[in-house]
Amino acid sequence: MKGRRMCGTVTAADDGSRVVVAGWVNHRRDHGGLTFIDLRDHTGVVQLVFNPALAPEAHELAERCRLEWVLRVEGPVGRRPEGSENPNLPTGSVEITVDACEVLGQAEAMPIGVSDEVAADERVRLQYRYLDLRRPRMQRNLRARHRFVKSLRDVADQLGFIEIETPTMIPSTPEGARDFIVPSRLWPGHVWALPQSPQIYKQLCMVGGCDRYFQIARCWRDEDLRADRQFEFTQLDMEMSFVDEDEIFLVLEEMISKAFGEAFQIPVSTPWPRLPFSEAMRRFGSDKPDTRFDMELEDVSDIFRDSSFRVFKGALEEGGSVQALRVPGGAELTRGELEGEWLQVARTYGAAGLAYMWRRSGSFEGAITKFLSAEEQAALAGRLGVEDGDCVCFTAGRTAVARTSLGAVRLHAARRFDWIPKGRFDFLWITEFPLFEQDPVTGRVGSVHHPFTQPHPDDWELVRTDPIAVRSRSYDIVCNGVELGSGSLRITNPAQQAAIFEALGLSAEEAERKFGFLMSAFRYGPPPHGGFAAGIDRMVMLGVGETTIREVIAFPKTQSGGDPMTGSPTPVAVEQLTEVGLRLAPTLRPEPAVAPTGGGE
Ligand code: AMO
Repeated sequence: MKGRRMCGTVTAADDGSRVVVAGWVNHRRDHGGLTFIDLRDHTGVVQLVFNPALAPEAHELAERCRLEWVLRVEGPVGRRPEGSENPNLPTGSVEITVDACEVLGQAEAMPIGVSDEVAADERVRLQYRYLDLRRPRMQRNLRARHRFVKSLRDVADQLGFIEIETPTMIPSTPEGARDFIVPSRLWPGHVWALPQSPQIYKQLCMVGGCDRYFQIARCWRDEDLRADRQFEFTQLDMEMSFVDEDEIFLVLEEMISKAFGEAFQIPVSTPWPRLPFSEAMRRFGSDKPDTRFDMELEDVSDIFRDSSFRVFKGALEEGGSVQALRVPGGAELTRGELEGEWLQVARTYGAAGLAYMWRRSGSFEGAITKFLSAEEQAALAGRLGVEDGDCVCFTAGRTAVARTSLGAVRLHAARRFDWIPKGRFDFLWITEFPLFEQDPVTGRVGSVHHPFTQPHPDDWELVRTDPIAVRSRSYDIVCNGVELGSGSLRITNPAQQAAIFEALGLSAEEAERKFGFLMSAFRYGPPPHGGFAAGIDRMVMLGVGETTIREVIAFPKTQSGGDPMTGSPTPVAVEQLTEVGLRLAPTLRPEPAVAPTGGGE
């Protein structure tokens, strides 16, 4: 629109000049024979005055228009009368006295409010997402996301990376989730998979001599949705040749700290601390520890080695451990709270129970106290630095379970006692993840990261003898308790890769069928390489202070995996299935997952 000014930019500096603005009617009121409209665009609102004596036609339009109509107006900017300024708005000292007005779009009664203050059910917000996006908060989030991605691209370019698009119809990728599949029409009974990540292609780019690759890559994973998980999400995906961990860490620290500064005005200092996985589990009971507060777990097994307390004794006899957490101020916690909510948190992570004692007037109180000797109590108080007014929580059992469940209690305590400082961003690297993990139900060995990750050089021997003990050359970025990304140095030796496939229980034929092309590429001069992928949605979520990635994605799916706006996923037509050589199993009725809804009420 010729000469258009953005609403939020009209200030006292424009006093006396004519302006053209366009936008949505945010608010309308009549006062003293005049009509006032707050006109909004994504930059803010500006006050319009319609005076029937000066511009009767414009005033008549203003009287008719409703919330969210779209207007183009013109007129001189003037100072607001004394006493009617709004110091909270950049435009609050001025108003536009409209002498020409045009209605560009009309709106029916709105199904949801578009101001930040109006609370609306998320399902309704997503059904009318195109209106929800008008909220200042959504505009802020999308624009911050844009700046963040742009900044990542700029820094990647400066560091010598080139952006390469990899295909999105590919064979299955081994990232551990379920694939979304696309049936092939030309090869009936055959499917493509949507990439869970560009992992294999970026490694092939390294074999192809691209040296430094990156991509703002869309990925798809068919997994249960959560606050930080969507079916489709975006990664900052990278791969570099001839590097070690230190060089990869430098690149990511530079990119992410710069982009956080530019997009969110959040200063992030570098380098980031590095914490081996085993230490993170020992101290925080988590591989994505929130290090913004200190309270750490203590292994107190040695204190209770000869305990007569059945629960501790039993755990230790079975080769497990006793973990303890001091909760400062925890003496105010009631039995109901500890045996209700707190126990539930521990149980969610597999603990059989949560033992506890309060510390009051120099001694411990609580049901388990009578089972613990005076020496044990004194040793515990000394080790944990227990003070009056504290509470000590314990988990006992298999060490991994005892740690993760007490780690969850640690986070719960932090929220309950408000230990988490605001405005702090604690980035860190978690290193040396185990290479393999064992499914507790099936006993099958799987990759913790993915099968292309190098084992720690000292642990090659263990790949065959004790795979679960093998450390890997993989690393995560964690910030404020959120896993932001993962990466590793890759295997490029075909024989070593074959050994890993074998440890994973993949037969040579299966490995050849699934990854033959990659193994073949590694026979023709593969450069050593490694890389990383960071979740853009999660980084933006943290940067703008949201608690779910749905708030930073323009059109996300609901938590239950549907899209109430378009009513999808939609039933599939028989003809469409026939075309790709498929038929629905008779027990499957093609019901829509989400009731279709139209645009209006
Ligand atoms: P990984 O599987 O750990 O590694 O994924 C990297 C990062 O992607 C983000 N992420 C998700 N974000 C939203 N919704 C999801 N469903 C989702 N799944 C993952 C997370 C995660 O840390 N190819 C390897 C990387 C590599 O080795 O270079 C990979 O994809 O922020």
